[in-house]
Amino acid sequence: MTRESWGTRFGFIMATAGSAVGLGNIWRFPYTTGEEGGGAFLLIYLLFIMVFGLAVVMAELVVGRMTQRNPVGAFKRLGGGQWPLVGMMGVVAGFVILSFYIVVAGWTLAYVFLMAHGSLADASPANLEQVFGEFISNPIEPVLYAGIFMGLCALVVAHGIGSGIERASKIFMPILFLILIVLVVRSITLPGAEEGIRFFLIPDWDKVSTNTFTAAIGQAFFSLSLGMGALITYGSYMPKDHNLPADASMVVVLDTSVAILAGFAILPAVFAAGLSPGAGPGLTFITLPAVFAAIPGGQFFGILFFILLAIAALTSAVSLLEVVVAYFVDEHKMSRRKATIMVSLICFGLGIPSSLSLGVWDAKFMDKGFMDWMEYLSVNLMLPVGALFTALFVGWRLGPKAIKAITNEGTLPVPATGLWLFILRYLAPLGILWILISSLN
Ligand code: PFF
Repeated sequence: MTRESWGTRFGFIMATAGSAVGLGNIWRFPYTTGEEGGGAFLLIYLLFIMVFGLAVVMAELVVGRMTQRNPVGAFKRLGGGQWPLVGMMGVVAGFVILSFYIVVAGWTLAYVFLMAHGSLADASPANLEQVFGEFISNPIEPVLYAGIFMGLCALVVAHGIGSGIERASKIFMPILFLILIVLVVRSITLPGAEEGIRFFLIPDWDKVSTNTFTAAIGQAFFSLSLGMGALITYGSYMPKDHNLPADASMVVVLDTSVAILAGFAILPAVFAAGLSPGAGPGLTFITLPAVFAAIPGGQFFGILFFILLAIAALTSAVSLLEVVVAYFVDEHKMSRRKATIMVSLICFGLGIPSSLSLGVWDAKFMDKGFMDWMEYLSVNLMLPVGALFTALFVGWRLGPKAIKAITNEGTLPVPATGLWLFILRYLAPLGILWILISSLN
C-alpha cells in the first residue's frame, strides 16, 4: 500500500501548525510569562525559538520525510542499532502526554458550557477559584469530558491523513486565528490595558533567574511539539518536492505568533481587570473568567476564548495520537481504525488516574500527584532527551546526507545549512543538557 500524504502545502502547514499551536501556547505560555516576569521571559523564549526551535523542527521533519515512517521505523531505517529506542521513547511520551492533555482539554470543553450557561458571570474571583477547584476534583465530570475529547480526537485520526487530520486542520486553524484576533482587539482596547502591554513587552531583568531560562527552553520545545517524534510522523507524510525549510519556518512563525497573540489577548485584559498575572495554571480557568465577568460583552468573549482553547487542544492532541497510531500501523501492521480505537481507549484509561489525582485520589509520591508525575516525566524528561538525541542523530549521524535531503538533492537554495548542522551538533545538545541537569536539581 502506498503511504498517504498531505494533499497540499497549505494543508501540511495547517496540520503541523495545528500540532504546534495548542494548550502550550494559549494556556501555558501566558501563565508562564506571568510567573516569570513578563517581557524578559518573552525575549529569552524568542531567542531559544530562533536558535534551537527551527533547527530541531527541520531535523525532525527531515528524518520523517527521508524514511516515510513513524519514529521507531524511521530510526530503524536510518540508524539501526540502539537508535530505534529514541523513537520508542517518543511513542511512549506521546502516549503519556496525551493521557493528561485530554484531561486539561476536557476542562476547556466544560468551560465552554459553563460560560454559555452564564453561571460564572457573577462569581467573585474567590468563588471562581472554588468553582474550578470543585470541578477538577469531581470524580466523574472531568473524566467524562476527557473521554468526549478523546473520542473527538479518535474520530479525526481514524479518517486518516488527508480526509481526517488535514481536513480538520484546514477548517479549524483559520477559525482559531480569527477568534484570537477578535480577543486581542477586545483585550488591548480595554481601559487600563496599557499596563499589561508594558508588562508583556518591557523586560524587567531583575526577575530573571536560571529558572527563567529552563522554563523558556522547556516551553519552546513543548510548544513546537518537539522531542517525541510528532514532527517525524508529520514529516513522513510530506511529499519529497515540498520546500521543507520554508514550510518549517512558516510553522515556527505561526506557532510563535499565536503564543504572542495569546499573550496580548490575556495579559492586558488581566491587568485591565485589576488582577495579577501570576496565578500559574489557574490563570486561564480562574483569573480569565473573572476578567470576562468584568468586561463589556464578557460572556460572548469568554465563550469564544474557551472554544479557541478547545480547538487548539484538539489539533495538538490529534498529532499526539497520530504518533502512536502510526507506530502500530507501520510496525505492527494494524489497521488505522483498530489502532486508533485501541490507543484511544488505553490513553483514556491512563487519563482517569490523572484526573482523579486532582481530587479523590490525592496520594503523593515524593510530593507529586499522579498527573504531576506524568507531566514531569514526559515534558521535563522525555521531550528534552528525545530532542537531544534527534539533534545528535541528524547533526552527526546523518550530517551532509541531511543537508542533501533538506535541499531536495541540492536543487533548492537553502541559506546557512552549515549553521544548521553546527546548531544540531553542538548548540542544541549543550543547551538541552543544561536544561535537563538544572531541571533535575
Ligand atoms: N505543541 C503542543 C502545545 O503547545 O500545546 C503540545 C504538544 C503536541 C507537544 C504534540 C508535543 C507533541 F508531540
